[in-house]
Amino acid sequence: MNAASRLSRLHSIADFRRAARRVLPRMVFDYVDGGSGTESTLRENAAAFERIRLVSAAPADVTTRSLDISLFGQRLAMPLIVAPLGLASSFWTQGELALARGAARHGIPFVLSNNASVTLDEAMGAGAGAKWFQLYVPPNRDATKEWARRVGAAGFAAIEITVDTAVPSRRLRDLRAGFTMPFAWTPRKFLDVALHPEWAMRIGPHGAPRPSLMHAVPWGGEGAAPDMRTRLSPALDWDLLRWFRDQWRGPLIVKGLADPRQAKRALDAGMDAIVISNHGGRQLDGAVATVDILPEFVAEVGGRLPILIDSGFRTGTDVVKALALGATAVQMGRAMAYAVATAGEAGVARALDILRAEIDVAMALCGVTKIGDLNPALIRRIGAR
Ligand SMILES: Cc1cc2nc3c(=O)[nH]c(=O)nc-3n(C[C@H](O)[C@H](O)[C@H](O)COP(=O)(O)O)c2cc1C
Repeated sequence: MNAASRLSRLHSIADFRRAARRVLPRMVFDYVDGGSGTESTLRENAAAFERIRLVSAAPADVTTRSLDISLFGQRLAMPLIVAPLGLASSFWTQGELALARGAARHGIPFVLSNNASVTLDEAMGAGAGAKWFQLYVPPNRDATKEWARRVGAAGFAAIEITVDTAVPSRRLRDLRAGFTMPFAWTPRKFLDVALHPEWAMRIGPHGAPRPSLMHAVPWGGEGAAPDMRTRLSPALDWDLLRWFRDQWRGPLIVKGLADPRQAKRALDAGMDAIVISNHGGRQLDGAVATVDILPEFVAEVGGRLPILIDSGFRTGTDVVKALALGATAVQMGRAMAYAVATAGEAGVARALDILRAEIDVAMALCGVTKIGDLNPALIRRIGAR
């Protein structure tokens, strides 16, 4: 089946997940789909949305509706952002560019992962939409400063610093499949690829996945730069973030907060926004679901910072729940990975069409006509799972 006819049959992110599972080699699908440790946080991220219910305020005139929001003085056509996804070129040829173009078609920002296989300039040239850059802080300050300089020179509008990766987590699916960098072929991996010919023909000519962007700046350590996940700085703390604030003039976002007490420190360190995240259940196994801790962040922040959130969002209704609880916008991770793996840019655009329709329907049926009117009175929590 070609990509266009495949797309017309997909009506939810769950449909995209099933399609991605068919098309991707098992090791690549598991890299996208899996979590760390026992995957308890991965499951909890989904379960949390089941415990949160919406209370419609209908009847209300909802004839005229808008999903626009404003963030850093810019208009977003809907309250979504395409989250940074490392190794996206192993999902689709130059997957990063397909993600960026799909986001641009929908008027929402795309965040380029530091762990990408395209250059900064290639990403900037992919569609007219806003581009942000996600930085994994290297152990060396000169290298960190150089990233800020290059990202600024390329024209990225904002930087997200990821702080929930002090050490690599234990992702058992990747360990079992041997899907670790640098990538090494084994007979089992060849067989996996041979069983997925569509992917093999598309990606095969480009060779094994290589997160080449991380080599753009010398990493500042001894010898060749090792795997991205093992060259992260375990010393990243608020001092470093305060220092980085002076290296980057644009919007600075700290990604990966889970403790509401850190919100005040983000304000003190001059951050422009936070992303409440547990990395989609890929880092600290056993972590609380972000949507469960969101109200505590909202109370701490008191409207002084935009609150972005991710982890576990698969439907527009999930998004509406978080916005009603006080989030400003939602970053979509795996939803976008399944979409780009299924049909590249067209897949991303179609998945965003679906999410847009789901947000619109949920908002309208709640009796609300604009994002800013979503509020906690629309939410009830139910106890048992
Ligand atoms: C395949 C994959 C790769 C990811 N790579 C990165 C990355 O390079 N940098 C980063 O900050 N977060 C990365 N993340 C985390 C996402 O940005 C986001 O926090 C997470 O996917 C949100 O959860 P969700 O997948 O349930 O939406 C990755 C997530 C996935 C699924």
